[in-house]
Amino acid sequence: MTRRVGLIAALLFAGCAPTPLTTFAPKSDLAGWIVNLYWEIIGWDSLILLVVTGIFLLGVFRYSGRATEEIEPPRPTHTHLGLEVAWTVGPALVILAIAVPTVRLDFRSQASRPTPGIFNVRVVGHQWWWEIRYPDLGITTANEIHLPVGVPVQFRLESADVIHSFWVPQLGGKRDIIPGHVNALTLTPLVEGTYYGECGEFCGLSHANMRFRVVVDSAERFDAWKQLQLRPAALPQPGPDGEESATQAGQRVFALSACTPCHTINGVSTGVFGPDLTHVGGRLTLAGGILDNTPDNLRAWLRDPDALKPGAQMPKLAMNEQQLNLLVAYLESLK
Ligand code: CUA
Repeated sequence: MTRRVGLIAALLFAGCAPTPLTTFAPKSDLAGWIVNLYWEIIGWDSLILLVVTGIFLLGVFRYSGRATEEIEPPRPTHTHLGLEVAWTVGPALVILAIAVPTVRLDFRSQASRPTPGIFNVRVVGHQWWWEIRYPDLGITTANEIHLPVGVPVQFRLESADVIHSFWVPQLGGKRDIIPGHVNALTLTPLVEGTYYGECGEFCGLSHANMRFRVVVDSAERFDAWKQLQLRPAALPQPGPDGEESATQAGQRVFALSACTPCHTINGVSTGVFGPDLTHVGGRLTLAGGILDNTPDNLRAWLRDPDALKPGAQMPKLAMNEQQLNLLVAYLESLK
């Protein structure tokens, strides 16, 4: 019995435990408004539950009797204007109480016209990764959004293929990303930290593997990241005795590989189908946010992308282990 109670309690409260994807620990103005709206609606719902339960109990105890008792059947009522008005106006008021703040919040989260001084980030959803562009800074990255704390940001959400949905539970969303249409999402991150994001709309085989991180930094740390991103791709250096280093050989492997038509490395290649790799070595994750960025994970990814991300658009490269090792050395040097 106690075990059953414990199990029920665990199931009931499983949704309340703070997790990286929780919406109950808001870290932006928008996420705060959303959680307040949630509690407001829960409040109205609880009130309705109390009233309905009260009327039900009243009915049970006031108008019931024992089986042996003779009860006079209730008198049928044909029309009752008061009751009809009550059960029309009552639910209408409840719907209004929920709809008005919901619609207001929806409008509040998308600026109707460009706001001067706002920080612009363009997000393009791909099967199954995120292209991130900073049009005002000339920076392109993938699966990782860096934002300065306390600065209002406007996301422009676009799709390269199918419908996706932008969702960072602790910062806000979800907002659908629709092919041929630009959706906006405006928010101000209020607390420094790294927040998990993921695609919130089924978009194909690896929908669950379409993740990203949002790094909210102090102004200084954000600026340091920005300066690093603005630099050209790191140039591989020769070994101590002037001989060809692994990173130099790796760059050669890259330049002659099937990687170049799909990936950009500034000064080396100009492909646009896959993520920009100019600073891939400095990123937190690989492969649409599913793997930590380590040499072992990168090697495993390059060896067989489909094994880690079913349906991945990136093909298996026809490379031997030595070529893979050189390629990993080069890509990880691109900080
Ligand atoms: Cu993109 Cu699900």
